[in-house]
Amino acid sequence: GTLTATATVRGDTPGATYDRRVFTQFAEHLGNGIYGGLWVGNDRKIPNTRGFRNDVVGALKGLGVPVIRWPGGCFADEYHWREGIGPKAKRPVKINTHWGGVTEPNTVGTHEFMDLAEQVGADAYISGNVGNGSPQEMAEWVEYMTSPAGTLADERAKNGRKEPWKVPLFGVGNELWGCGGNMRAPYAADVTRRYATFIKAPAGTRILKVASGANSDDYEWTETMIRDASGQIDALSLHYYTVPGGWAPSMSPSKFDEAGWAETLAETWRMDEIITKHSKIMDKYDPNKRIWLAIDEWGTWYGQDEGTHPGFLRQQNSLRDALVAAINLNIFAKHADRVKLTAIAQMVNVLQAMILTEGPKMVLTPTYHVFKMYKPYMDATVLPIELKSPWYNKDKWVVPTVSASAVRDKAGQVHVGMANSDPNRSITVSTTLTGVTASGVTGTIVTAPTMTAINTFDQPNNVVPTAFTGAQLGGGTLTVTLPPKSVVMLDLR
Ligand code: AHR
Repeated sequence: GTLTATATVRGDTPGATYDRRVFTQFAEHLGNGIYGGLWVGNDRKIPNTRGFRNDVVGALKGLGVPVIRWPGGCFADEYHWREGIGPKAKRPVKINTHWGGVTEPNTVGTHEFMDLAEQVGADAYISGNVGNGSPQEMAEWVEYMTSPAGTLADERAKNGRKEPWKVPLFGVGNELWGCGGNMRAPYAADVTRRYATFIKAPAGTRILKVASGANSDDYEWTETMIRDASGQIDALSLHYYTVPGGWAPSMSPSKFDEAGWAETLAETWRMDEIITKHSKIMDKYDPNKRIWLAIDEWGTWYGQDEGTHPGFLRQQNSLRDALVAAINLNIFAKHADRVKLTAIAQMVNVLQAMILTEGPKMVLTPTYHVFKMYKPYMDATVLPIELKSPWYNKDKWVVPTVSASAVRDKAGQVHVGMANSDPNRSITVSTTLTGVTASGVTGTIVTAPTMTAINTFDQPNNVVPTAFTGAQLGGGTLTVTLPPKSVVMLDLR
């Protein structure tokens, strides 16, 4: 039978802004995340603009990607920006020691990345090298990119770019507790203070500095960083991956049973508790919430696809990932006062990707489609939602059956995102709307006949949004029947 739940959308007590930067994307020099996935150089068989594939850039424009984080990840803490500028033939070929031990040709460097960001229409979020770089190297990179004048600006112009670029966001290293240098928190806080001191924006511009934050539930890290480095930073990051089966990642991305489905969603739901606890610590030292919690790496991390290169983190993306995306995007709404930026990992061909490619072929993943459905959330105002949902459980894995959030966009239109985690039963959510004037509702749904449904190059439309007709609006109540294993976006009018 159909389950039931109730909800109230509080249009009368609007909350914080759902910052567009929650939809930031992360592109690391890892596997085919850059080379092959975005950059094809002068491969004439794959239509491209100055080396970046037109199909992928076009798809990213469709998402309205607001920000791209680059060049890592772990890669960032051993990246030397000077190796990626100037004539391509003269750039050193390095070994990507983190990711597969393959060669890194440095073909995509600062100028190329900035071109990509401009093609997509995204802002740049650059991660600096704290791990094995110096404060001077970091400061000079910032100057090279942003300065209107001086020797470094002249060098930039000589390399093809006269106008300074905007770098609104700069990461002071990445995962300093691990690949960024295996530092302990008090040391990392001091290092962050030191490096951040030398990141200087030219007059009239601003660069928000993002400190390397905690791994998952490492609350001590957050406490130390916020206590000791808050004066030098604008955001503290947090990385939390959904890793069903625990570390090291091993569960198949596309072959799993209901327990694998439920475990994945339960691991994803931990995000809510993790944000709540980190936020509480930040509130102690930063009660006015000046400093963002920037969850600049999140998403599913499974075992890699069979037959793919070790270290390339290539994984399929199923309907399960669509649920993961929606549940996280709904959780971020609840924490919109503190969480102003998040970046799913990663944009193309790596982990929970938007897009998969193989040679000239490209396919949009279920995750891509959910991100597209949530586009109206960008810079909208969160409307608090009170939800009474039954639990869905399989074996020891338990999650609320319904995940939901609501926003009012700048034009006054209300959007309600919902997901039903139960793969077997539909659920009717009777939603009371307070302070919302609307007379009709349309919607979009992502679902599929099986939990494991994926889009392939040959069958790209297995998991795609279609029109949703299961919602009615009348007398201030929105009645929605969510099919099993579905993500729904409702647009009120
Ligand atoms: O996204 C893959 C890796 O995960 C990143 O490089 C690193 O920051 C994290 O450990």
